Amino acid sequence: MTDLRLEELSAATAAAANSLTLKPGQEQFVQPTTYGVAESDVKPSASWPRVVLDGDEVVGLIIGSFDAENPQEELQACIWRVNVSATAQGRGIGRFAVHGLADEARSRGFERLTVVYEPGEGSPEDFFRAVGFDVVRETQYGDHFAVLSL
Ligand SMILES: CC(C)(COP(=O)(O)OP(=O)(O)OC[C@H]1O[C@@H](n2cnc3c(N)ncnc32)[C@H](O)[C@@H]1OP(=O)(O)O)[C@@H](O)C(=O)NCCC(=O)NCCS
Repeated sequence: MTDLRLEELSAATAAAANSLTLKPGQEQFVQPTTYGVAESDVKPSASWPRVVLDGDEVVGLIIGSFDAENPQEELQACIWRVNVSATAQGRGIGRFAVHGLADEARSRGFERLTVVYEPGEGSPEDFFRAVGFDVVRETQYGDHFAVLSL
């Protein structure tokens, strides 16, 4: 864990990033309903996809989305997806990925980073709280909308 870095998703890393294996029960939290419904409102050009590499191994994926003009506040500067391989979880990789995205958001002039996730048993809620997000409301689909001040 001495050599963590973020790299732009590429042809060389896409297969590994798409086949990261999560822990049992986590798959249902990967895409909350609110994001599923909003998917067509996200511009491809807004996407900021990065893999987390530990040495040569892909251990995580984070996809941000930046679209300051988007009328939906959930889609202006958000974590669209963050996954860490089951065998690499609990070692600070998710936190490292979120910090990388937060740095990018700050450099683009955003004052906050947001995330939407489904609450419940096995949800990433405690992770987002641990890295500094506060839940500010529920979406119309019952997901939690949380904000990290930058
Ligand atoms: C959520 C996820 C990305 C966390 O990645 P991770 O690498 O295990 O997280 P980290 O090791 O960086 O943990 C950072 C902090 O969160 C806490 N944390 C992480 N997962 C937690 C959990 N399930 N329950 C309680 N605390 C948790 C850690 O204890 C740590 O806190 P600390 O620094 O105060 O000790 C990972 O569990 C995952 O891929 N989940 C499945 C996909 C998912 O739900 N993604 C979010 C969709 S929006």
